[in-house]
Amino acid sequence: MTVCKTTGLTVEQQNRWPFLYSHLSTDIEIPSLTNVDEQFIIEMDKEISKILKKVGDGKAKSRESLTRHLTGLLQRRFQRNAKVQAFGSSVTGLSLGTGDLDLCLSFKREQPKKVLRKIAGLLREEGMMDIQQIPKAKIPIVKFTDSRSGLDVDISIENRLAIYNSKMLKGYAQDKRVREFILMIKYWASRRGINTAFEGTLSSYAWTLISIQHLQMTNPPVAPNRQKGGKQNLIEINGDTFDISNDSSPFESKNQQTLASLLIAFFDRFATRWDWNEMVVSIRNGGPLNAEKKKWTHTGPLPLEIVTGQSKNRMEHIMPIEDPFDHEHDLSRVVKAEGAMTIQEEFMRALHLLSQGKSWKDICAPVMEIDEEPEDFFHDLRNQNTDSLKQRIEEMKAEVVQVEERIHSLVTERQNSKELLDLLRGTLQETRNVKSNRQSILAELRPLSMKVQELRQTRDGINDRIAIPTKRIQQEMVRMFDSLTAEVDVFNTQSLGREKGDFSYFFELQAMYKASIESNQAHQEFIRLRREQNKEYKALKNTNSQEEDVLNRLVEKNPELKGINLHPKTVKEFQQNANKLQKSINIQYSNKHELKREIGRIEAWIRIATSKGNQRPRKDSKPRQNRRQAPTVNINEVRERASTGGSFSLNELDALLSKGGISGIESKEKTSTSGQSERRKSGRKKSTYRVDPRQGRKRGKKQSRN
Ligand code: CTP
Ligand code: MG
Repeated sequence: MTVCKTTGLTVEQQNRWPFLYSHLSTDIEIPSLTNVDEQFIIEMDKEISKILKKVGDGKAKSRESLTRHLTGLLQRRFQRNAKVQAFGSSVTGLSLGTGDLDLCLSFKREQPKKVLRKIAGLLREEGMMDIQQIPKAKIPIVKFTDSRSGLDVDISIENRLAIYNSKMLKGYAQDKRVREFILMIKYWASRRGINTAFEGTLSSYAWTLISIQHLQMTNPPVAPNRQKGGKQNLIEINGDTFDISNDSSPFESKNQQTLASLLIAFFDRFATRWDWNEMVVSIRNGGPLNAEKKKWTHTGPLPLEIVTGQSKNRMEHIMPIEDPFDHEHDLSRVVKAEGAMTIQEEFMRALHLLSQGKSWKDICAPVMEIDEEPEDFFHDLRNQNTDSLKQRIEEMKAEVVQVEERIHSLVTERQNSKELLDLLRGTLQETRNVKSNRQSILAELRPLSMKVQELRQTRDGINDRIAIPTKRIQQEMVRMFDSLTAEVDVFNTQSLGREKGDFSYFFELQAMYKASIESNQAHQEFIRLRREQNKEYKALKNTNSQEEDVLNRLVEKNPELKGINLHPKTVKEFQQNANKLQKSINIQYSNKHELKREIGRIEAWIRIATSKGNQRPRKDSKPRQNRRQAPTVNINEVRERASTGGSFSLNELDALLSKGGISGIESKEKTSTSGQSERRKSGRKKSTYRVDPRQGRKRGKKQSRN
């Protein structure tokens, strides 16, 4: 493998990042865009306005109806507790039509447990595709693709800040020039494959913030600072406080620059003049923040060091971008080394192409070749006759019935399996109750036996010392008391020694009496506890037969349990079986949805073909060359209806056919995303160096390989 001595990049990497590589390895001059020809700007503006006509949220209606559908679904599942709100580009007005649908699910009362799993289950039943749960993120998310519209959807949980920041972005986007500028940056980032946070580049949201920052910094500013009002609006989320104040008053800019000239200035700024090591993008500040003051200076290795294998450590604050409300959130924390290299390559590429007078279309050329004349949505149906299509529909409908039957039987089987599982769990629970009853008896018996033992020892110990029964001691005490207290016969007095002996005998009797009482009490307690102990022994014996009884009773009531080994392991097996059945059910559901979609598509085509003056469908799949211009209709809207099987006027139909069916939008979206994913796939192997090329080169040279 040939490795560049200066940079450490392999040939493959050099080819992947050619502009960046030439800056890192040689002393080529960084082009300047300060004196761009006016005619060039005029041409570029013309081009941009053409692109702007094409982009836009052609799927707005699908988004709306899908949002309504999902809202209903989630509210039925979580009752009135659930609240669904859209955010992101479908509300900010910053959609290119290719973005995802961002929804936020929040709860008015307590959030249900295992909520992501519940949502995923619900979506599966709906036949949604590629369902992924991301439970560990700060904001948990379920991602999926709507099988009908093909829209990618993110449902995030309690994403309150996103609702507020979307509202603010909507405010910024009210200004036409600001909106169009952001759209063009998003367009460029999307076509060049650098707008996917989860694959290590920047999110569309981050590109939006960078765009706004640029427009705030032009002279005079094109965009205002909507967070400068002074009056705070504090909210608390999970114990943290955020100021979500947002000045939505109209802003009149004195800046006269056109979109093209603003875009050129954008690339000039971010490709060469923005020092990512010292500057933090901050739209709430209206201009860059000092990275050192914010404690966001870059730490860790440079991207180049990572991609060339010199370091495996983590990079921090590689392209610091502050979230306008969550000031601790750096949107570049998702950027990986390869992503940072690719972003910088794209900045450099745009700068070079612009300096060479290349068009905006060239700058935004998709990273993978896209088929500019894609097959249309009905291409395979055009040369088929209506009757055979109708027959196909009938066959597919019969298949749907079969699939539904299969689903029904699988669901019933799973239901039975689940019931048996519940029964098993219940049985184990009941016998567990008996077992735990036994445990608690044993737990009580242990101290009881010890106490009985103790009492016995006390009693016997005393009795060993005092052989005389209590009654006898009492009598002796009375006798001695009488004798010691009787009137003294002066002529017959006892000797002093004898009297002392009587007294000590009396005291001894007293002590014996006390001990004897203690012994009696111990004996009484001993008897009582022995009785209790006997009762517990009986209860213990009972539990054995109880366990048998429970099992017999349950098997009698539920013959299904006969022969089943009532053991926790069996429960696990049953659970696994139920899961397997659920998987088969999901597969059948997606088969059903697939079939229904195909039926809808063929039906839509038959409607189109027959309503077109009862003409036979066209034989060739390519749009006709010299077709007359379709009447003015909103083609995106018509395509939208065609994809969902809606009806059209003849004018609309005409327009649709002359634009190649509904494929225009569909295929472009597909190709552009597939282009991106290709780029992303290959991007994984890529690497980068620090975003400022001059720094990178210095580092590269210093650490060159010999
Ligand atoms: N968001 C956020 N924090 C992030 C990323 C996104 O708060 N780190 C929120 C923002 O409210 C943003 C929304 O999520 O508006 C959607 O993000 P994203 O899909 O990246 O932007 P869109 O403008 O919706 O772009 P696209 O049209 O490509 O979907
Ligand atoms: Mg989005």
